[in-house]
Amino acid sequence: RTTAVILAGGTGQRVGLSIPKQLLKIAGKAVIEHTLTTFENADSIDDIIVLMAPGYVPDIEKIVAKAGFKKVSKVIEGGSTRNETTERAIAALGEGLAEGEDANVLFHDAVRPLLSQRVIDDCVVALERYQAVDVAIPSADTIIVTRTHGEDGEFITEIPDRSRLRRGQTPQAFKLSTIKRAYEVAAGDPNFQATDDCSVVLKYLPDVPIHVVAGDEYNMKVTQPVDVFIADKLFQLASTAAPEQVSEEAYRELLTGKTMVVFGG
Ligand code: CTP
Repeated sequence: RTTAVILAGGTGQRVGLSIPKQLLKIAGKAVIEHTLTTFENADSIDDIIVLMAPGYVPDIEKIVAKAGFKKVSKVIEGGSTRNETTERAIAALGEGLAEGEDANVLFHDAVRPLLSQRVIDDCVVALERYQAVDVAIPSADTIIVTRTHGEDGEFITEIPDRSRLRRGQTPQAFKLSTIKRAYEVAAGDPNFQATDDCSVVLKYLPDVPIHVVAGDEYNMKVTQPVDVFIADKLFQLASTAAPEQVSEEAYRELLTGKTMVVFGG
């Protein structure tokens, strides 16, 4: 059985609106409704659970009822950090399992509404062989490592070889037993700190290989205010052609601002 966990427990401080960014309308639908539609339509996904920011669970229930999603089996409140939200999902998923039974779980950021079916399918296929799977794309930018020296500010300490660097996206996919065990070990660490789930496996279950599946440039995370405009434009392109078919030229035009952004919703 394969469950998609939609992580929507955040409030979107960086976008800075009065509602969480996952409820913002882009191209006529709430961001999270786009995300849910993708998983609802994925043949490899059996059910979906949503972890929503406290106080906004009824908004999701309304969206689910109106869109008629059949796979959404649970909507519960998220935790105060992304990892706490994941832990709540793991606890909820464990409830449905018989002794000794395992399952596949894909954790996905609610605010990556342009995820493709190809990436979902590649994750599920990879779970036939691996217990942990990440999704990433190459980095176009040079990544530098810095250290801050008091009031003098930041200085470079290292420039890692770009050919080996990747930008992590989601989904992050796991055997439920593996991610559960990783969090159990992490619970014993008083200094536990992480911002994603693969880093929990990497740190606390170092013997488990984490396979990397190719993500795609469209699978952006709505993080800053400008991302709302970019995502809206990408939906316009995606509505006329499958992401794979959009010409590089159109994509470049979008990113260089030559094309106007028109809000759909
Ligand atoms: N998330 C979550 N539970 C939290 C915090 C974040 O499920 N306690 C989710 C967000 O809802 C989002 C994803 O993790 O779908 C990626 O996080 P991020 O972009 O940092 O979202 P926010 O925490 O909402 O944004 P910000 O940091 O700007 O407040």
